[in-house]
Amino acid sequence: MTQILPLQSAHLPVLINEAIEALAITSSGIYIDGTFGRGGHARAVLDLLSADGQLLGLDKDPEAIATGDALSEEDGRFSIAQCSFAEMSAEITARDWVGEVNGVLLDLGVSSPQLDVAERGFSFQKDGPLDMRMDRTSGISAAQWLATAEEDDIANIIKTLGEERYGKRIARAIVEQRETAPLTTTRELAILVDKASPSREKYKHPATRTFQAIRIHINNELEDIKQGLVQALDMLAVGGRLVVISFHSLEDRIVKRFFRDEALGDDLPSHFPIRANELNPRVRLVGKAIKASDAELEMNPRARSAVLRVVEKLA
Ligand SMILES: C[S@@+](CC[C@H](N)C(=O)[O-])C[C@H]1O[C@@H](n2cnc3c(N)ncnc32)[C@H](O)[C@@H]1O
Repeated sequence: MTQILPLQSAHLPVLINEAIEALAITSSGIYIDGTFGRGGHARAVLDLLSADGQLLGLDKDPEAIATGDALSEEDGRFSIAQCSFAEMSAEITARDWVGEVNGVLLDLGVSSPQLDVAERGFSFQKDGPLDMRMDRTSGISAAQWLATAEEDDIANIIKTLGEERYGKRIARAIVEQRETAPLTTTRELAILVDKASPSREKYKHPATRTFQAIRIHINNELEDIKQGLVQALDMLAVGGRLVVISFHSLEDRIVKRFFRDEALGDDLPSHFPIRANELNPRVRLVGKAIKASDAELEMNPRARSAVLRVVEKLA
């Protein structure tokens, strides 16, 4: 019998013109798209590569990999690997590209198809199994974590990764609920958070922050970003560009600090007798943070919180 799959929503790539310009593409260069998704940015990179150029896509999500596999069959300049971008150095080393990569793009977070398919369990707006893993074949689901984690850990994650002031109350409600029956669906969690939240923010569902926190935790997102940035910089050629699009303040803070520290260079005491240009900065900041234009926001509200930052490797 033919299996009917849920209709996949498209993913509109965010800040695509800005990201491509920021990569300053050399047509015969080597590029890494660390967050392939549905390949919107990747196809725009391929459009600018000559027959000698190469693009490697990475993604944790098997559904993104399926799209990437199809693209690699169509286009010999493209290859894809299923892994975290925090492990990009292994893939790049295997291809003998260390220090030769001309650009790395990271378009962080989740894609529209991940959010829109109820079965993935990412969205409080759709009822599905409480999963939230980008790769459902590894790690534990949100439901498993909420069924076993300590109350204090749940509170701490919701507070820090969701910037949710009612983290403690929500964690208490989760633990009380699981004493009767564990939470298994996104709707159950959304209703529980709604009931446990004593006040409302305008235009924001009360479960928004809790879902964000659990998703970030389950997918180890912030640690991956820290490691991914370090590896990307190590892999780049001198003059290569690292372009990162963030979607919330926790991500952007990590990117901004990493870029600033690498642009400042060696962390020596301020009284040390050395000039700023002797501190061995590893990168130069390219322009300021870029946000989506009004025209893009009209077409794609998801771009509202996007911030793009760019550095160029100096040494
Ligand atoms: C915002 S979407 C990227 C969309 C893509 N630029 C496009 O145009 O279709 C983010 C993608 O990155 C993947 N992802 C998120 N964190 C990742 C990580 N640490 N390593 C690899 N892939 C990751 C997600 O599975 C998702 O497919």
